[in-house]
Amino acid sequence: MAIFSSSTRQVPETAAMPRHVAVIMDGNGRWAKKRLLPRAAGHVKGVDMVREMVRACIERDIGYLTLFAFSSENWRRPADEVSLLMQLFVKALEQEVEKLRKNGVRLRVIGDLSRFDPRLQDLIRRAAETTAANDRLALTIAANYGGRWDIMQALNRLAEAMPEGGGTWREADLEPFLAMSFAPEPDLFIRTGGEERISNFLLWQLAYTELYFTATLWPDFTAAEFDRAILSFQQRERRFGRTSEQLTEQPDA
Ligand code: IPE
Ligand code: IPE
Ligand code: MG
Repeated sequence: MAIFSSSTRQVPETAAMPRHVAVIMDGNGRWAKKRLLPRAAGHVKGVDMVREMVRACIERDIGYLTLFAFSSENWRRPADEVSLLMQLFVKALEQEVEKLRKNGVRLRVIGDLSRFDPRLQDLIRRAAETTAANDRLALTIAANYGGRWDIMQALNRLAEAMPEGGGTWREADLEPFLAMSFAPEPDLFIRTGGEERISNFLLWQLAYTELYFTATLWPDFTAAEFDRAILSFQQRERRFGRTSEQLTEQPDA
């Protein structure tokens, strides 16, 4: 059973502050290049910005933050960059988990973890265990994640759980098997770095999410920039299929 309502089956409750923010943290390489630095320097600065973003979400009472750290397509990058990204991931887990635990952050990593080094897999498991009792902020890192992978793994697990059900499955049957079944669907999606695409991030879950694209590169995405994104979100009219008149006449419809 999904705990949260689905935007396609019910009209979700909305609030001024997004409950769940999902971010494609893009532009690290270009940030470094502009400064004549190696791409690695951009990724290192990118990790600092994750820390800032976590703090900003706690301060703003946002319950869920989901960050795209490594896509299932990022293996196509040069081997040394992939290896650097893995090292940074390991280092961040080693250094940050205790702080996250103390600050009430629950960390989860979603994606196909089987391709990672066993040591990294172990760190991920331990980080999730260490922070499992926290409920101030649900921080989710998408690593070796792809939206299509997510839908397919959910479908395969559903087929295993309900082998007789093929042909009659509904959205609600699939949803508990999706990687983000513990969270409400994102209210606000942010992509930094200027590209206006989803790049195989949360495909199912973004069905009714408000999209915000900014040219600001991820290492420059400060809390003030985040507030601009929230302000843009607050100016949207979320209709979920209804007319504008329905919203003003019958706010509860
Ligand atoms: C995003 O920054 C970080 C990851 C994909 C891991 P990029 O590395 O994609 O930076 P650009 O897009 O080349 O500037
Ligand atoms: C998307 O960024 C993935 C992450 C930020 C982890 P990319 O920079 O890899 O996206 P594309 O390939 O340009 O679409
Ligand atoms: Mg990029």
